[in-house]
Amino acid sequence: MSQRILTGIKATGQPHIGNYIGAIQPSLELSKQENISSYLFIADSHSLTVQPSASVLKQSVCQIASTWLACGLDPNKVFFYRQSDIPELFELNWILSCVTPKGLMNRAHSYKARKDENLKLGKKDLDDKVNMGIYNYPILMGADILLFSADQVPVGGDQIQHLEMTRDMAQKFNHIYKKDLFTIPKAFIKEEKILPGLDGRKMSKSYNNEIPLFLESNQLKKLVRKIKTDSTPAEEPKDTKNCLIFQIYKSFASDEEMQNLKDLYVKGIGWGEAKDILFFKLEDYFKDKK
Ligand code: ADP
Ligand code: TRP
Repeated sequence: MSQRILTGIKATGQPHIGNYIGAIQPSLELSKQENISSYLFIADSHSLTVQPSASVLKQSVCQIASTWLACGLDPNKVFFYRQSDIPELFELNWILSCVTPKGLMNRAHSYKARKDENLKLGKKDLDDKVNMGIYNYPILMGADILLFSADQVPVGGDQIQHLEMTRDMAQKFNHIYKKDLFTIPKAFIKEEKILPGLDGRKMSKSYNNEIPLFLESNQLKKLVRKIKTDSTPAEEPKDTKNCLIFQIYKSFASDEEMQNLKDLYVKGIGWGEAKDILFFKLEDYFKDKK
């Protein structure tokens, strides 16, 4: 039976290697299969929550579009679009808002993270600087998915909750109107893990800790050099488990390459050398896509 896949990337900056591992690579791999129809889009309306200038938004839309194409998206096979070009999405956004309990939005990770940040800063108003776009974000994402009756949604591990919310909204609507109108979508998560950024938090355009795709060699090297490490001396054995360099390397290396690096960790390797190995791996991995 034919399956429909759908995914989007927010236009909030340059796409990075976390976007590639979580969304771009699995979507493009699926989109090459015979029985799959693909809907891949640039979530430019989602980025309005951070109130970008027109020029920044335009640049990011172009960067994301060119990244999809450089990574192998075939526009003859895939529906490739900009979210803001589909006005029906915003109609559905409202319809879904009317069946979505407010409590569900209160639990959204991105909104809760903002509140926690305000709490840490000692602010009285925990909703300070939270606009309604941020608060309602999961509903628009639900509309993105449900409008096109997607079966599978390739995303990184950070989007699991949004997918669960979308399923809730679809089920609620179908139940209220006693009709199986909406397909209940599933998250397609290839790498359960979330790629860490330079500082160890989730790699994200919002945290300024990302390794963008398609950097010039010297810029890429500089960024890889910035990955946070501890102060274990070079000659001492090192643990791969909590090492950011290794966690990133794992997503791009073959089993054999991974084992080789593990062996070097056991023997004792300087962080500079480990970073060079990661740098060369990334250079090599993306060289054909540049
Ligand atoms: P960002 O957090 O950088 O703004 P987006 O929200 O636009 O990225 O994410 C687009 C897609 O990339 C989503 O499917 C998301 O799950 C995936 N993604 C983003 N960051 C990562 C990461 N660090 N590891 C794995 N997947 C990620
Ligand atoms: N919310 C996703 C993110 O922040 C981006 C996104 C918007 C999306 N709409 C979507 C992903 C629909 C998958 C399907 O990463």
